[in-house]
Amino acid sequence: MDNEHKLLDKSIIRHLPKIELHRHLEGTFPVEKLYRLAVKNNLGRPKDFKEFKKEVQFPKDSGPDFLTFLTKFKNDWYQSMDDVSFITYHSVKDLAGDGIFYIELRFSPEHFSLENDFDRKIVTKLIIEAGNKAAREIGIHIRYLLTFNRSKQSSDEMKTLYNQLKKLDLDAIVGIDLAGDELEYPPEMFRDFFQLIKDDGLYKSTIHAGEVSSSGQIWESIKNLHAARIGHGTSAAQDPGLQDYLKDNNIALEQCITSNYQTGSWVDEKNHPLGVLYRKGVPVTINSDDPFIQNTDLTDDYIKAVKYFNFDLNDLINLNLTALRASFLPQEEKEQLTLDYLSRIEKFKKEYER
Ligand code: HPA
Ligand code: ZN
Repeated sequence: MDNEHKLLDKSIIRHLPKIELHRHLEGTFPVEKLYRLAVKNNLGRPKDFKEFKKEVQFPKDSGPDFLTFLTKFKNDWYQSMDDVSFITYHSVKDLAGDGIFYIELRFSPEHFSLENDFDRKIVTKLIIEAGNKAAREIGIHIRYLLTFNRSKQSSDEMKTLYNQLKKLDLDAIVGIDLAGDELEYPPEMFRDFFQLIKDDGLYKSTIHAGEVSSSGQIWESIKNLHAARIGHGTSAAQDPGLQDYLKDNNIALEQCITSNYQTGSWVDEKNHPLGVLYRKGVPVTINSDDPFIQNTDLTDDYIKAVKYFNFDLNDLINLNLTALRASFLPQEEKEQLTLDYLSRIEKFKKEYER
């Protein structure tokens, strides 16, 4: 098989060691395990597995729609702390199938705790313990970002929760994420919270911005929310001044081709901005976002990137090195991980070139 076609062969490209910066735990559950939870907890979801999938995933017959997409994040899956550990453990175990080398997995402690008013600190610790156990078993590197959802809490409530969570003092947490409905809840509503994060200096921030809004929200997220990375940022495609700024200041865009189609962020997949921005030297990265809701995996997004933008193996390696550079790891760890990553790539290449 020639090399070009190998990159389109899922059984090969899934083994490419990958760095993923943008994936929500809430959007990456193995759907069979979620079904088990729904039955055990009597949640009133369809008993037929096919029907179940139809209800919980983004509907195939629906056109792209941001708010429909967001309705898929249900709070009632978890009726005990054991449920939270169970679903986390199996979600991380599944990352092996995508060839993950290092992931910054994000989750919202509020999301997992809301339905039963669980202690947010305990839930956070349990998720990290279960995730770390699974990561050790499959031999991947993992860190976590804490997600705060714009429509669930005010800036002041976020501050209160953050002040509790930071007492956990866990090295496993490396950053803070702002997600949810950016149309009704624009970034300027959360300036105070992100000023606190900046003043504390414990964590870097990434903001979902310019996903279904204009590039003005990306500028606001960088200038006033101090974002070190941007989630999606598809509207940067229309703002050459912003592209230069991202490049000069090394602010990476965490892009997600399939998610961007389903939310309506960028419906013309073949002309998704990732390819053009990459060739202009803007730091861009390939991510899955919410593979269970999308009914895809990260490898599918890699295959799309190869097909649509004609990427070769070196391009894919470059994109992953950009992701490592943009990771929120301490500098020393980042350098060590980069060396380890390059040696894993050498091994992959030997197999790949056979
Ligand atoms: N946008 C905003 N919030 C989200 C998303 C998204 O694509 N996925 C999960 N939470
Ligand atoms: Zn996201």
